[in-house]
Amino acid sequence: MEKTYKAEPYRIKMIEPIRETTKSERKRLLTEAGYNPFSLRSEDVYIDLLTDSGTGAMSQAQWAALMMGDEAYAGSRSFYRLEKVVKEITGYPYFIPAHQGRGAEQVLLPRLVHKKGMFFLSNMHFDTTRAHVELAGARAIDCVVDVCFETEKEHPFKGNFDLDKLRHHIEEKGAENIAGIIMTITNNSAGGQPVSMANLREVSAIGRALNIPLIIDGARYAENAFFIKTRETGYARHSLREIARETFELADIFLMSAKKDGLCNIGGLLAIKSDQKLFETCRTHLVPLEGFPTYGGLTGRDMEALAVGLEEALEEDYLAHRLDQVRYLGDRLIAAGIPIQRPVGGHAVFVDCHAFAPHIPYDQFPGQSVVNALYLEAGVRAVEIGSFLLGRDPDTHENLQSPLEFMRLTIPRRTYTYRHLDVVADAIITIHEKRHELVGLTFEYEPKVLRHFTARLRPVTS
Ligand code: F0G
Repeated sequence: MEKTYKAEPYRIKMIEPIRETTKSERKRLLTEAGYNPFSLRSEDVYIDLLTDSGTGAMSQAQWAALMMGDEAYAGSRSFYRLEKVVKEITGYPYFIPAHQGRGAEQVLLPRLVHKKGMFFLSNMHFDTTRAHVELAGARAIDCVVDVCFETEKEHPFKGNFDLDKLRHHIEEKGAENIAGIIMTITNNSAGGQPVSMANLREVSAIGRALNIPLIIDGARYAENAFFIKTRETGYARHSLREIARETFELADIFLMSAKKDGLCNIGGLLAIKSDQKLFETCRTHLVPLEGFPTYGGLTGRDMEALAVGLEEALEEDYLAHRLDQVRYLGDRLIAAGIPIQRPVGGHAVFVDCHAFAPHIPYDQFPGQSVVNALYLEAGVRAVEIGSFLLGRDPDTHENLQSPLEFMRLTIPRRTYTYRHLDVVADAIITIHEKRHELVGLTFEYEPKVLRHFTARLRPVTS
């Protein structure tokens, strides 16, 4: 076989300088930030793995497309260009643009809640999706497969819906009380884990039989398509577009934060397959919530860049590289004996901080402790996805215990090189060697909602 040499499938035409800080500077900055890296300034971060949302680099074709933006309030040419691309990818005739994923959520989700006491069932709701479900007066229930909680266990589709849980909840609550089934692909909170086509097909059949709409929360649907191609029997010869199309055929509605697989810094999409009435009521609500139907909170130039980004995100070379970068970082950590969610998912490496720092109790936030240690060590910013993020029980006000205590190392698209990822891996290996020195955290200031964004913490000293 011919030897291949793989590196980034792009060369760098424009650079954004990043600054290294000293350890003593970082110590001061972290203390000032209340041991919460959300409060750090980005210029004080060397490598920023907080999120893959809106943080990627655009291509020359996208930058060129920006100049073609039609900023007309009504009937913008850029809207029609974006609409054409979305229709081609999804096969859905009805399309609404939004300023980002949560914009599309606020337009759609309340329209599906017709009465009190309704539920949404999901493999896993993303935070903003859950928030919009609750704001609409409904309740959000997660039904992910249990294997996703066993981080060491290898399984190709740890993001799947547990079909027994799904059936059980439908039976218990009554099909008429289920406002929708939300399939999140990839499953962000479970570790960027993919969902198989077989699972999607079964979930779709259950929904169809009972007339419950199936909604794809597809921020990372292209990455999911690549996993199906490479991990699921029968898909190796399918193009990514074919896999994406099959995915959408099985569902009824598509919600997307286009800040991920749209390869843009801002943007959201809502597309509907056949329910014209639903489309019309969403479009009516779009105007006061997001904007006129031909811009929905986006500029003309945003829509141009997004039309190009959606196409580029389905290119095989791009996706192979994207997922290889994430796997590369995961493999380096695995080789050093660091516990992570395995196999590595699509947009991030999730470090299992319960296993990393088992001496820190959940209500002293082991994930946040490791996140802070990583910033101190090398100026790398990650994010906690665990009990700190989960918050308190609304009735008892006790700290809730998350089943998983993760540090998410989220890799922006086309932004960092393998060398940057080496720096991240080296720093984590160093803190892992000193893990017994890690200490838990307690609150100095705790906001009532979404506390992780603005809370101030301090180390627990016994
Ligand atoms: N759905 C999923 C699966 C997401 O991951 C996100 C955002 C949203 C919806 C909301 O989209 O941010 O454009 O309003 N996830 C980001 C993250 C913020 O860091 O995981 P948005």
